[in-house]
Amino acid sequence: MQKRKTILDIAEMKRDKNKIAVLTAYDYPFARLMDLAGIDIILVGDSVGSVVSGYDNTLPVTLDEMIYHTRAVMRGSSQALVIADMPFMSYQSDIRDARINAGRLIKEGGAQAVKLEGGLPMMDTIKALVDIDIPVVGHIGLTPQSIHRMGGFRVQGRIEEQAQRLIADARAVEEAGAFAIVLEGIPAKLAREISFLLHIPTIGIGAGVGCDGQVLVIHDILGLYDKYAPKFVKRYADISPLISAGIKEYIEEVKQGQFPTDDHSFK
Ligand code: KIV
Repeated sequence: MQKRKTILDIAEMKRDKNKIAVLTAYDYPFARLMDLAGIDIILVGDSVGSVVSGYDNTLPVTLDEMIYHTRAVMRGSSQALVIADMPFMSYQSDIRDARINAGRLIKEGGAQAVKLEGGLPMMDTIKALVDIDIPVVGHIGLTPQSIHRMGGFRVQGRIEEQAQRLIADARAVEEAGAFAIVLEGIPAKLAREISFLLHIPTIGIGAGVGCDGQVLVIHDILGLYDKYAPKFVKRYADISPLISAGIKEYIEEVKQGQFPTDDHSFK
C-alpha cells in the first residue's frame, strides 16, 4: 500500500515543478474514489455547507460538522494528504479558540493540516498554530467566509491597489509559516506573479494556470450542483442524469412489483 502524502511531499512537488491536484471531498465514497485515482490532496472544504447541506454560503457550517466529514474522508483515503477547513468563527475570535478548534480537526477529525481564510490579519493565528505543530494552508482572494464584506462572490485584485494588498497578504501567510496557500478568484496574471514570488506552493481556484496546483469542488466537476456555476469550473462528467435514471427505474420497478425478484430475496 502506498503511504500517505505529507506536507514534505507537497513542498517537494513545488521544488520539482510537479503540479498539485486537489479536490474536495466530504464523505467516504468520494474520498475513496479520488484517493484510488491518485489525487494528491483532499480538502474537506467548508463548501460542504453549499454543495451537501444546501445553504446559500459557507457561514453556517459548524466545527462538529467539519470533524464528522473529515473523519469520513480519512476512512475513505489512504494515500492523499487530507486538509480540513476551519469553519467561520472557529478561528477569527481569538488565538486560543483557533488553537483548540484546529486541534480538534487534527485530533478528532484525523486531518493532517487545516486551512483558514485571510492574509495579513491572520498572521498571528497562523503562527500560533504552526508553533504547536499544526500545519496550516492559507487562503486569500475571493474568500467565501467574507461574502458580506465582498458583497457577493466577486473576483478580487483586479485593481492595482487590491493586487498589491493580495501580494502582501500572500507574503504574510508564507512568513507566518503556512506550508501552502489557496488563491481563489483572482486574475491569472496576479496568481502567476504570487506563485513566482512565494516558496510555498500556490493552489489556484479561478486563478489561472500559473499556480503550482489546482483545486475544484467535486460536486461542481461531476455536475452534482447546479445552484451556482462559476466560470472557473470545468465539468468533467455529468452524473446527475445517471443518478436520476437509476432512481426512476427503481421507483418504477417497486410500483410494478418487479423488484425485488427471487434473486434479491431470502429462501
Ligand atoms: O471550501 C472549499 O471547498 C474551499 C475550496 C474551494 C478552496 O475552500
